[in-house]
This record gives sequence, structure tokens and C-alpha cells, in this order.
Amino acid sequence: MIKRFVSALYFCALAGGVMADSVIADGIMSDGIISDGIMSESIKTGGIKVGGEIANGRWFNDKDLTLTGVYYYPEHWDESQWERDFKRMHELGFEFTHFAEFAWAQLEPQEGKYDFAWLDRAIALAHKYDLKVILCTSTATPPVWLSRKYPEILIRQENGTVIDHGARQHASFASPLYRELSYRMIEQLAKRYGNDKRVVGWQLDNEPAVQFDYNDAAQNGFRAFLKEKYKDITALNKAWGTAFWSQVYSSFDEITLPKTAQGFMNHHQILDYRRFAAKQTNDFLNEQCLLIKKYAKNQWVTTNYIPNYEEGHIGGSPDLDFVSYTRYMVYGDNEGLGRRGYRVGNPLRIAWANDFFRPVDGTYGVMELQPGQVNWGGINPQPLPGAVRLWLWSVFAGGSDFVCTYRFRQPLYGTEQYHYGIVGTDGVTVTPGGHEYEQFIKEIKMLRKHASSRESKPADYLARRTAILFNHENSWSIDRQKQNRTWSTLWHIEKYYRTLKSFAAPVDFISENADFSQYPVVIAPAYQMADKELVDRWTKYVEDGGNLVLTCRTAQKDRYGRLPEAQFGSMINSLTGNEIEFYDLLLPHDPGYLKADGKTYRWNTWGEILKPGKDSEIWAIFEKEFYEGKPAVTSRKLGKGTVTYIGVDSTDGSLERDMLKKLYSRLGIGVMDLPYGVTMEYRNGFGIVLNYGESPYTFTLPEGAEVLIGDTTLQTAEVLVFKISE
Ligand code: GAL
Repeated sequence: MIKRFVSALYFCALAGGVMADSVIADGIMSDGIISDGIMSESIKTGGIKVGGEIANGRWFNDKDLTLTGVYYYPEHWDESQWERDFKRMHELGFEFTHFAEFAWAQLEPQEGKYDFAWLDRAIALAHKYDLKVILCTSTATPPVWLSRKYPEILIRQENGTVIDHGARQHASFASPLYRELSYRMIEQLAKRYGNDKRVVGWQLDNEPAVQFDYNDAAQNGFRAFLKEKYKDITALNKAWGTAFWSQVYSSFDEITLPKTAQGFMNHHQILDYRRFAAKQTNDFLNEQCLLIKKYAKNQWVTTNYIPNYEEGHIGGSPDLDFVSYTRYMVYGDNEGLGRRGYRVGNPLRIAWANDFFRPVDGTYGVMELQPGQVNWGGINPQPLPGAVRLWLWSVFAGGSDFVCTYRFRQPLYGTEQYHYGIVGTDGVTVTPGGHEYEQFIKEIKMLRKHASSRESKPADYLARRTAILFNHENSWSIDRQKQNRTWSTLWHIEKYYRTLKSFAAPVDFISENADFSQYPVVIAPAYQMADKELVDRWTKYVEDGGNLVLTCRTAQKDRYGRLPEAQFGSMINSLTGNEIEFYDLLLPHDPGYLKADGKTYRWNTWGEILKPGKDSEIWAIFEKEFYEGKPAVTSRKLGKGTVTYIGVDSTDGSLERDMLKKLYSRLGIGVMDLPYGVTMEYRNGFGIVLNYGESPYTFTLPEGAEVLIGDTTLQTAEVLVFKISE
């Protein structure tokens, strides 16, 4: 249900608009283009569901493997050039395009007056060139009339600065009025195009983030959120520990939004504020989605998140059909391998996004991938020749259903003038990245002839599937109280993730709602906030035969971020078999040592000195400290499964790697040993090997495999695709 918040007066203003010629009153066109159901053969047989039932409960067909598209902003270009541009997209092989992302000013030039004529013409022309269309809701760029008439919808920063018209993303998601104004516009769009077979899906907003907004609506919303959660103020005082430093509240109305300027701000309050802020974004998206779905019965709805895993909103809008992401790989300062690695990008940047987004709904798409230089990095270098194609294959390897590039033409004006497109500033010359797209699309079309079902993957690969349990709230909580400034929660998790990718293990990042029993191994790294229910579920998973890896900083706080009144860390003692004697934190320039199976490792950020139970096997011990010889890593059998506890964070991840190797070998799970920079995945009966490394890598093909693309020796940024024997 969409909530209606605005006053009767405001509704009158919206309803009073007079429609211009090219403007519609209530949506559905009757000029034959939309309602006559005529569509080209390529659209009927294309991968995206365009009508009727969803085959196998999915929006996309296996046989298409992936669809490739490109952003276009008709409103940026002279209309006489549109046809030339769509024709060119089609010739390059693109299968869909993407419209109306930032076009609210053109869609609703005056309040209540809608102009869809230009969009109708753009969709018709795209259709003529066999390009399906993704439509957007434009809520990232409200028109100026809106900001001037309703300035209360503008975001207010902590220091009081009100974000103004002239850039984008300046409206508050917490503002009921802004939501209502958005829904009025979206409803018109959905009515008009929700039944249009040329439109296959919707993207909501643009890169919707969690806003830290100090607008009055956010303030009031936060109080209402807290009232709903705690009912009475005593419960809140207890949850937030307000007895500390005289912070006690006597009414919800005394509570304000926490300020980042206050370094010692109550972190239980911050935890709730972050939950509230994420909920604003999630609710806004979900309400947009439900509104579109009232009209769009056969179109999917998604949005294009930035994969900022710790932000806490990805997957939080339950009615989206699946989640998509945007990824930029080369922008100057990012990590790659070797002297020119910054031209190729971080080897796991796309893989991690794939493994994070896919488990949310079983599929994912990539909405933006750069075709060349960007404009917004500190330094914006050229990608290495081949890198754009490497990224496309990286997206594909994770199981995506589509990939779209930002953008077709390099803009001639505005903030992003230096941003490359598929074609350059003359509008016709294809850029090097454009040619790499062309090559990728041709290769995919060739592969379609060889494709098996999506789930066709070798048994030895599936046997090593592993879940990483992730909850952004753990990062929020730890990051407020790191205890060692050199600790990084994401880097801690990455040590496990890197290892799993070097094993060529299929990895899913999962949330607590997931069924753990689907995975032979589940790793919960630094899972700080827990409760009895979760510990019971972990225990059952292990007793039934699962293999659980818990790491330091796990289950040490409750869900409010408080320490339980019990021995430190004891919530999981019955699971690990250990007790924690104490924890220690060292200086980065003088790290500590660990010993395991004759090898030495270093650590400094966090170490737990364990007192093992009778049935715990000790896998690693501390060295050269006053607790020399005491365990840092243990493993035990429990029921039909095992629990391994890695109570320390090593400096370079080598301890984590060796501990996992030992575990998988004990379990009889075969793993590969790929160098960092090389990954291998399977889908649709294909193996895909990617080399982000600075040196050539020679891959040994599995028996009976047939090379379809590339060579078994891969130079930097090269790709190998082979067909497995079935
Ligand atoms: C993305 C954004 C796009 C465009 C792009 C430029 O983050 O979603 O709208 O600005 O960056 O690289």
C-alpha cells in the first residue's frame, strides 16, 4: 500500500494541471503502438520475459546466456540523430537500451503536466532497431519547479547546508512529500508503459544510497521509527545504555539525529540511526516498485546499487525482482596487480559483487560498466587494451543475465564531459572500449549455440561451494569500536574470500535468512552481533553435518551492540568448545607471531587467546608473547559436522588460507590453487578463466574440455572459455 501523506491542498494542486497536446491524462496510449501487441520476432524470442508466464520461474532464458545493452539519453541529443544512434547500437550488436534515468524535468515539465511524446518516439525508434528498453523512474533528479515550490524536500547536511538544485540526488528519501511527488510521476509512467511490450523492465532511481540527512522529515521519521521499535522510552534507555554519561531520555521527542561531529556519540543510537536511514531508502524503492507493479504485470523491476556492502540496503526492498549493480574498475587509485595494474582493476572487484548480488534473488544484472575512461576519479587513466572485455567476461562468469554499459555517447556538456562512451564526441567513431563490447557480444552470440542449462557445472566445482555469512550491522558496530585502528572488517572478510576464489570455489554471500544446509561449508567472519536463535541455528547446521568456520570478534555483542553479562565471548562456547581467556591488539610496525604446522605467520589487528576444550584440536598457537604456546585456532567435531574457530586476523591472509586448505583437505573437498589475479567459474556448461595478473598464466584444462574462446596461456587481461564434456 502506498501511503498518502500530503495535504488535500497539495492533491488539488497536482490534479489541477491542464494537459498539453503531447501530454496524456491517464496513461495507456491508444495509437496502436503499445496496445496492438505488434513486436518484432527478435523481441518475441528474446531472453527477457515479455508476456505470459515466466518460464521456469525466471525472467531470462538460459539460451540467451546474457543480454548486452547501453544507456542512451534521448533528451541530450538532437532528435534528428536518434535514429542514426539506435541503428549504430543495433549494428554493434546491442540488444537493449536504457532511457529516462534523469529526465523528470522532461517528463513533467510543469507540476501535473506530463510530456511523454518524446519518450514514445524514442521507444518506437529503438524498437525499429530491435532494441528492447529499460525505463527508469528519474527520482534522482527532481525538476527545479519541485525544489522551488517544496524546498522542504531538500537534503540538509549535518552542518545545516541545504543541498540545492543544480547537481543531482538532492532530495530526501525520508520526506513523505518527496515520496508522494515521486509516486505521482511514477504512476503516470507506469500507466503509460507498464503494458508496453517493448519495455522489458524498470530501474528505480539511480544508485540509490543510504542518505545521512538532517532534514526535519528525517528527524521526525527517526523519532517515529524509535517509538515503533521500543514503544516506551525506558526500553530505549536500556537498549542504548543511556545511564552512561547521563544520556537518559524522558521522551522520544528529545532525541535528535546523531552527529558525526561528535566523535564519542552513543554508538547504540548510531546503530539504530543507520537502521532507520537504510529503511528510508529501502521503503522508498519498495513503494516505487509496488506502484509500478500495479500496472506492469510482465516487466521486471530492479535498481542499480553501488556495491557498497557495508551500507546495508542491498536486498532490503523485498518486492524487487532481483538486484543489479554498477561497477567502475579503472579510476586511478584502485588496486590492480603490477605496475600498470590500475589499468586493469582489482581482480576480485566484479567477482565479489557477483557473489554478493546473485544470492539475493538467484539472478542479477549489471546496469553500468565503464566503456573507457571515467571523469570522476582523482586520475582517470585509459584502461589496458582488453580490460573492458575482461570485465564483461567477469560479469558473465558469475552467472549474470544482462550487462549494460554507461553510456553510448560521450557527453558534450555537463558534469561528465570527459566520460568515455561506446562512441566518441563526434557521435559516430567507435571507441576502443566500444569495439571490445562489439567483440564480447559477437562471442556471446557464438556461445549461445553451445550453451547448456545455467546450472550445468562440474560436480567437483559444486562440491566446494561455500557461503560467507554477511550482515552489514557487524561492520557498523565494529567500526565504531575497532580497538585497533589498523583493523578493517572488509579486509578481514576478503582474506577468506580471496582464499575461496583461489580454490575456484563457488561462493555465495548470504544473510541469516538463508538455508545454511545448502552449503558444505559456511564461514561467518567477525560476526560480532548475534543472539541465541542464531547460535542455535549454527549448532543445528553443524550437528546435521555442516562445517562451520567462525572467526575472531564473533558473537561478542547482542543485537543492540551491548556486551552480554557473561564471560566475554561466551555466547558460542558450547559451539566452539573453547573459552576466550582474553584478546590482544598489537602495533602494526611490531606484529606478533603465530605457528601452525611448522609455518610462521604474522598478526597485529586482533587476536584471541583461547582456552581449548577437551575435544578441541589445536591448529595454530601464539608465539613470542607472554601467552606463547596458547591456541589461536582450534577445530572440533560436533554431531555430524565440524566447527573451526580462527580467533586471530593475520596480516596478509596466509594463515586464513592455510587453515581453510587444511579444513577442506580434512573434509575431502578438492580445491584448486589459483594465484591471486586468476579466477575460474562455471556456468551453462562453460568454464571461464580470467587473468587480472601481471604475468601470463597457463591453465590446465579439465579432461575432455574443448576451448571455444582464447588460449590456455592467458596474457594479462585475457580470457579463456571452454566447454566442459557432459
Ligand atoms: C555512476 C552513475 C551514473 C554516472 C556514472 C559515471 O556512478 O550511476 O549516473 O554518473 O557514475 O561514471
